[in-house]
Amino acid sequence: MNPTRTPVADGGQRGTSSWTREQAERIERRGDNVAPIIYPPENDPFPELHIWDTWFLRTRDGSLADLNGWRVAVSLTAPAELLPGKRHDVATLRYFYSADGKEWHRGGRVFEESEAFGSRQWAGSALYDDGDLYFYYTASGQKGEEELTYQQRLAVGHGGSVVADDEGVEFSGPFEHEILLTPDGDYYETEDQSRGMIYTFRDPWFFEDPETGKTHLLFEGNTPVPEGSDACGGDAAQQEFNGCIGLATSESGDPTDWEMQPPLVEGVCVNQELERPHVVVRDGQYYLFTPSHEHTFAPGLHGFDALYGFVADELEGEYRPLNDSGLVLANPANAPFQAYSWLAFRHREEILVHSFFNYYDLRGRSLDDVADLPESEQQRRFGGNFAPTVRLGVDGDETWVRGVLDYGHIPTEDEELEDPFEPERERPTGGY
Ligand code: FRU
Repeated sequence: MNPTRTPVADGGQRGTSSWTREQAERIERRGDNVAPIIYPPENDPFPELHIWDTWFLRTRDGSLADLNGWRVAVSLTAPAELLPGKRHDVATLRYFYSADGKEWHRGGRVFEESEAFGSRQWAGSALYDDGDLYFYYTASGQKGEEELTYQQRLAVGHGGSVVADDEGVEFSGPFEHEILLTPDGDYYETEDQSRGMIYTFRDPWFFEDPETGKTHLLFEGNTPVPEGSDACGGDAAQQEFNGCIGLATSESGDPTDWEMQPPLVEGVCVNQELERPHVVVRDGQYYLFTPSHEHTFAPGLHGFDALYGFVADELEGEYRPLNDSGLVLANPANAPFQAYSWLAFRHREEILVHSFFNYYDLRGRSLDDVADLPESEQQRRFGGNFAPTVRLGVDGDETWVRGVLDYGHIPTEDEELEDPFEPERERPTGGY
């Protein structure tokens, strides 16, 4: 990696690690990094909704919150009548709850209509801190705007209350909303500075470091690359691909008080969108995951709609790409858009990966070609619900697919999983 070291106040060093083109050139599907094919579930539990990016209500230590026996998922949702491609324009946070992690029940909207910032709300995370609720989200556009804009700010709704009883879980507002961070134009590109195809400053993800006790917020951003810069050997087309994984820290631990830090990882000259970044700590190693798209790789690189990842000895890095290339979990070649927005989490010593069932049966079409299909076909070929959970094997800097669970199955703490269907691979050090 190419860390750019910057001195920090406590006298230490911290840097931004780079995902390099050389590493990304090694991306390839292999027998052990491709998810099994997904077929439409026999029963869609929520046929009235499109459901996509999802996260769980967690406590400070990262474990899933237990609300009187219920665990809670928050998802971006839209009415199922809407063309799936239009769903981002009206995205609304709704919650779901489950006692066994298999059967999910529909809760309501997280926020009252028009309560939150933005004309719509995009992905975030959710913290249950000793009884206090913090729903982080991306405020996209401006409330009440006539034409959609793509300004993005990191926001939170906190306060409110929750009742969790035998009947289920109910959150009630009003929540107090705050804008937490806007791009500074130095570490993180503003919309005006953007030269790329897609602009990002979104997806706040709360993380408390178990080793240091420090409180952080990770997010998706872009690194400013001014015109005429010598980045990417001066190649202007490659420079437009400048995704990064952002970091902010709360010195006091207050989950609403953040100070911007340099990015953890930059994908300049590699990829434009390092989406929904999140960390899973296992065996003292920091596994940093990020979903990304085939079409957001810079010219000359060939990636997939897949989960990518990096690993480091400390949260601040230096990060090494997992599996030498960064590729962790790809959609199959014959169903290249079947899932997206992967979210890795711990179940005991395992790492499991949730995602949503995206487009299937596209027969060679790209995501961009979907809009040319008749509307009924766009609807038919969009899953819009929880995908089967994937089990990852992990050993140091290597990962592999070792099995799959049911659609949206999020095992409870005491649930023993069966032996994976795929035989354990030969590993030099016999990892899990
Ligand atoms: C990933 C994503 C997120 C964003 C959301 C909007 O699927 O691009 O980064 O918050 O979709 O729908």
